[in-house]
Amino acid sequence: MPVDRCICHDIPFAKLLEEARARGLTTIEELQEQKLSSTKCKLCFPYVKKMLLNGQTSFIPGKGIDPE
Ligand code: FES
Repeated sequence: MPVDRCICHDIPFAKLLEEARARGLTTIEELQEQKLSSTKCKLCFPYVKKMLLNGQTSFIPGKGIDPE
């Protein structure tokens, strides 16, 4: 099963990316301020960072993320 959403905020990364682009949000801090994702358990944090960097919205568990 791919990692493709922020479970705590119940939002798929594809929808999150769409919202981020529509609102002009480019950092995870801005997504947190808007309460869109990544404010609770933060397990999605590295995936969301990677999504913001390259637009990837689905990740294979165990393949590594390498967000920086
Ligand atoms: S999965 Fe995103 S904050 Fe918990």
